Amino acid sequence: LVVPVVLAGGHGTRLWPMSRSARPKQFLELVGEGSLFQQTLLRASDNERYSAPIILTNADYRFIVAEQAQELGIAPQAIMLEPSARNTALAIAVAAVAAVDNDEDAILHVLASDHAIDAGADYYKAVDVAAQAAANGRLVAFGIEPTRPETGYGYIAVGEDLGHGVNVIDRFVEKPDLARAQELLTNGGHVWNSGMFMMAARTYLSECERLAPETYAAARSAMAQARRDLDFVRLDGAAFETAPNISVDYAIFEKTNRAAVLPVSFAWSDLGSWDAVWKAHKPDQDGNVAVGPALMSNSRDSMVVSDGAHVVVDGLQDIAVIASTDAIYVGRLSSAQGVGQIVKALKSDD
Ligand code: GDD
Ligand code: MG
Repeated sequence: LVVPVVLAGGHGTRLWPMSRSARPKQFLELVGEGSLFQQTLLRASDNERYSAPIILTNADYRFIVAEQAQELGIAPQAIMLEPSARNTALAIAVAAVAAVDNDEDAILHVLASDHAIDAGADYYKAVDVAAQAAANGRLVAFGIEPTRPETGYGYIAVGEDLGHGVNVIDRFVEKPDLARAQELLTNGGHVWNSGMFMMAARTYLSECERLAPETYAAARSAMAQARRDLDFVRLDGAAFETAPNISVDYAIFEKTNRAAVLPVSFAWSDLGSWDAVWKAHKPDQDGNVAVGPALMSNSRDSMVVSDGAHVVVDGLQDIAVIASTDAIYVGRLSSAQGVGQIVKALKSDD
């Protein structure tokens, strides 16, 4: 059985003001039923393929995670609490240490918790292909066929065929600017890095020890000093303090020669920014999306999201209006990637 490893510790600043540090986007109901985190758990809940999930999150989110899992009747193998955010390389290493303790051949399906995926038969076929390649010692990244010059994603240059449906990773290009993204799309041979991975826990740990020794050491000691608290595993604070803040893409995938990409074409989106939410809601014939009590008149290519206040807009074009109970954002939909930077500046001001 494959072990789902659900990463749910991100802050989702680009979806401000709905996504807040107290309740980031993965725990919000943005599209479809249930939060993105819950949809992630459900996709990995088929017990012929998966064991119970390991969830990694920030200590602040422990009760949201426990409650949202319980609402689905899903009992996690562990909810591991990070005392501070050190990004995904360390979170995955901690999960790998826990998994090999149980089963030294454990295969991990590493899942981001902020994705909207149309998980039909082709999705699960890809999961099985990736699990096989992982059992053969590959660190597999799921690569999505790109459909537009998206600047919110990383790109992977697809190399030589390794058989079993996977290819060599020639290069990573993290979040290119629009000109570069357009070039990658036109030239072909590149897929989006989905941020979803399949790997043997053992392979990840040995590559981590070799390529990111500080992360490896921190994971070992965070687990050795961890303590149980109710249903949670509290990872050691001192170990996290000393660990570098680095993502799995940079720390491991860009350096290892065991990396492989599995090109897939199921519908997938990282609901990273408001324009992605707009697209995921399938805009009407005028290109508008209204979520919550909103009325849109004479508007085009715009979106209103309200979690309570009645919002009326007139004559908008390419505008997002996001109204939460205590904060409002209005800006161009087409430049919605910038929200994260603005919010960071706002936070460092107060
Ligand atoms: N547990 C834990 N701890 N989870 C984390 C942490 C952490 O410190 N930091 C991030 N995460 C989680 C997020 O909640 C999310 O589910 C996932 O890890 C990825 O982090 P993001 O912050 O959403 O990354 P991104 O979307 O900007 O970029 C990555 O994903 C893209 C696709 O979704 C990159 O891998 C890109 O190359 C990729 O295209
Ligand atoms: Mg993301």
